[in-house]
Amino acid sequence: MVTEAQVRELLGQMEDPFLHKTLAETNGIVEVKIKEEKQHVSVKVAIAQTGTAEQLQLQMQIVNALKEAGAQTVGIRFSELPEEVLAKFRQEGGNQDQGLLSPASQTQIIAIASGKGGVGKSTVSVNLAVALARLGKKVGLVDADIYGFSVPDMMGIMQRPVVRGDKIIPVERFGVQVISMGFFVEDNAPVIWRGPMLGKMLNNFFNEVEWGELDYLLLDLPPGTGDVALDVHSMIPHSKEIIVSTPHPTAAFVAARAGAMALQTEHEIIGVIENMAYFESETTGEKEYVFGRGGGDKLAEELRTDVLGRLPLQQPDWNEEEFAPSVYAEDHKLGIIYKDIAQNVMKKLENQ
Ligand SMILES: Nc1ncnc2c1ncn2[C@@H]1O[C@H](COP(=O)(O)OP(=O)(O)O)[C@@H](O)[C@H]1O
Ligand SMILES: [Mg+2]
Repeated sequence: MVTEAQVRELLGQMEDPFLHKTLAETNGIVEVKIKEEKQHVSVKVAIAQTGTAEQLQLQMQIVNALKEAGAQTVGIRFSELPEEVLAKFRQEGGNQDQGLLSPASQTQIIAIASGKGGVGKSTVSVNLAVALARLGKKVGLVDADIYGFSVPDMMGIMQRPVVRGDKIIPVERFGVQVISMGFFVEDNAPVIWRGPMLGKMLNNFFNEVEWGELDYLLLDLPPGTGDVALDVHSMIPHSKEIIVSTPHPTAAFVAARAGAMALQTEHEIIGVIENMAYFESETTGEKEYVFGRGGGDKLAEELRTDVLGRLPLQQPDWNEEEFAPSVYAEDHKLGIIYKDIAQNVMKKLENQ
């Protein structure tokens, strides 16, 4: 019959399926009990995440190993590692191979925020990412609007990311590496998750995704100043922000709150983008300020930053062979403005 020391030795070499450290390293073997007379071994193991397929796999591995070592019956209980331990390993992981979140990383992370939904935050995120890629930059885009994900549809992405080893490879479209909650949800089903899950999901978007070398990583944040926005702020201390608003006073007023949140968490605001700034008649060239005027300037002034650009109301031209309903072509009036904005962003970030 096996001894406790042997059991600890055997299990100690197995890996926590999420942390990729051995159970010996994570201190994951919580308890080992041996009943000689019944040749029964029971163990209690702590891993990073319970109730998962990975847990089942580990469970089978443990049962097989213990039976091979002489146990007749095996009992296993799983629990989750304490948060302090997880935080420690996450941080270590971050410094080793997820360069993106480490302070030494060359990748500039830019969160796109807005006070309320419907102002064009996702449209701006997508087109700014594409414009930066058109200027030769290596760009990633995270659709961090976990409930209201829209980036895959907006860019006309039909394929799903593939998994290589234990990493997810983002989908490339118009030269932009994209990752979205929408890739992991069946048939446009709603995402029903509670708060703590959201932070974990975001964490996965950084740590489980093979981003490669990036110059810029853009995040399409959920609207407002809720949990996820706050998570991003605390998870990515060196992220910069762009605030999107329409010129309407209400939108600008609410956007100021999103900006204030950035400033409070010491995130630098790169600037304000005023979307739906005006409507320009194609026949007369006359501009109509349908949502009012001055919201962007007022917002920029309040946040002590600049307006990076103003985008009029206009849809992209759709083309059948490369369907991407929200991406403006390079020579479209808005495509040109987006390139301008991208250059402004690059200039601002280079001068630091
Ligand atoms: N400049 C624009 N001109 C015309 N329609 C726009 C413009 N910007 C955004 N839209 C449209 O407005 C709607 C909301 O935009 P979206 O980017 O989804 O906003 P958000 O992410 O802030 O909720 C979408 O239907 C989008 O196509
Ligand atoms: Mg959106």
